[in-house]
Amino acid sequence: MKTEAAILWEGEKQWSVEEVELDDPQPGEVRVKLASSGLCHSDDHAVKGDLPTALPIIGGHEGAGVVEEVGPGVTRLQPGDHVVLAFIPACGHCRWCASGESVLCDYGAVIMGGLPISDGRPRTHARGEGLKRMSLLGTFSPYTVVHQDSCVKIDEDIPLELASLVGCGVATGFGAAVNRAQVGPGDTVVVVGTGGVGSSAVQGARIAGAQNIIAVDPIVFRREQAEVLGATHSVASMEEAIPLVNDLTRGVMADKTIMTASLMTGDMLMPLMALTRKGGRACLTSVANPNITNADVVLIDLILSQKEIVGNVFGGCNPHADLPRLLALYRSGELKLAELVTKTYSLDQVNEGYDDLLDGRIMRGMITF
Ligand SMILES: NC(=O)c1ccc[n+]([C@@H]2O[C@H](COP(=O)([O-])OP(=O)(O)OC[C@H]3O[C@@H](n4cnc5c(N)ncnc54)[C@H](O)[C@@H]3O)[C@@H](O)[C@H]2O)c1
Ligand SMILES: [Zn+2]
Ligand SMILES: [Zn+2]
Repeated sequence: MKTEAAILWEGEKQWSVEEVELDDPQPGEVRVKLASSGLCHSDDHAVKGDLPTALPIIGGHEGAGVVEEVGPGVTRLQPGDHVVLAFIPACGHCRWCASGESVLCDYGAVIMGGLPISDGRPRTHARGEGLKRMSLLGTFSPYTVVHQDSCVKIDEDIPLELASLVGCGVATGFGAAVNRAQVGPGDTVVVVGTGGVGSSAVQGARIAGAQNIIAVDPIVFRREQAEVLGATHSVASMEEAIPLVNDLTRGVMADKTIMTASLMTGDMLMPLMALTRKGGRACLTSVANPNITNADVVLIDLILSQKEIVGNVFGGCNPHADLPRLLALYRSGELKLAELVTKTYSLDQVNEGYDDLLDGRIMRGMITF
């Protein structure tokens, strides 16, 4: 079928919205009619070259929609099912899936290549070329064909437009606090960078029972929004946060710190670890350029204070277990989703959406179809 998509071509530095040809679903795959796609910062890292990305590629990895057609051998889904697309698929039987760490699924090896799990052949074509898809999803298009292992079936009462947010940003931020940092009742938590991911970490920390949640962001609007979502304090920089956290904790410092700034660089680790108490845990979530192999840290402080640094991909979430649980928290009113979406855009306005994101005018932008 013919549809359209926002594509990043070799040598171009913005999304090009154009007509594409989409193939039928192959064995194990489904065609999804998307309701919306969130504008995650990671797609912009692909544009800027900070995230290694195979080109040409259809952007977008935060989507939800309705299954329209299923290919041969699809057993878990049927037309009409509502699904969230998980930006990391789960095969269900590799060593990692079998031991409850499906976020590390061996499918991870094919995600960056952007070509279908089943046969590695592109399903979408434009200008005579096969197109890759961001996280195997390519949600910057009204339609996509994806493997059933990328789909999580959800209840039909959940608004599909908002459900897309748990496909990346909300799960990544919430899980940063709850799964990876392991925030507990009474904790003091610092979240550095409160955009779509960081403000979801703020919500995760609130729901986990944190006492003090300090939002750090240079943009006033982002700090205000973080306070709406549960931050108890907010400051413009990690340097400003140090005396505040020192006062709040009588010199102990934060139990958990979470890095969700736009892009992480090596010099950002030192102030983050200064904010983290002895025996505390720092959770690194932001994308960092793969060429960065050094980070500043006082080694002896890390060693003798028994501080922990943990990584985070997709909030350590198991999509089939955790995404429906997040949507249940939305249903009960505890997890705010509508409040994250400042502005919606048409697909044609995707570059405008990213300009607004980078200028700090919006929290999460969303393309609606
Ligand atoms: N690990 C994962 O699985 C995963 C998943 C999704 C996104 N990410 C990454 O998480 C990061 C955040 O994504 P997002 O969509 O929320 O981005 P965003 O642009 O919405 O938010 C980033 C925020 O960081 C702030 N910021 C920038 N530099 C800062 C600094 N030095 N101190 C404090 N705040 C600072 C910005 O003002 C902005 O508000 C990005 O790097 C993104 O690629 C990682
Ligand atoms: Zn993302
Ligand atoms: Zn697996």
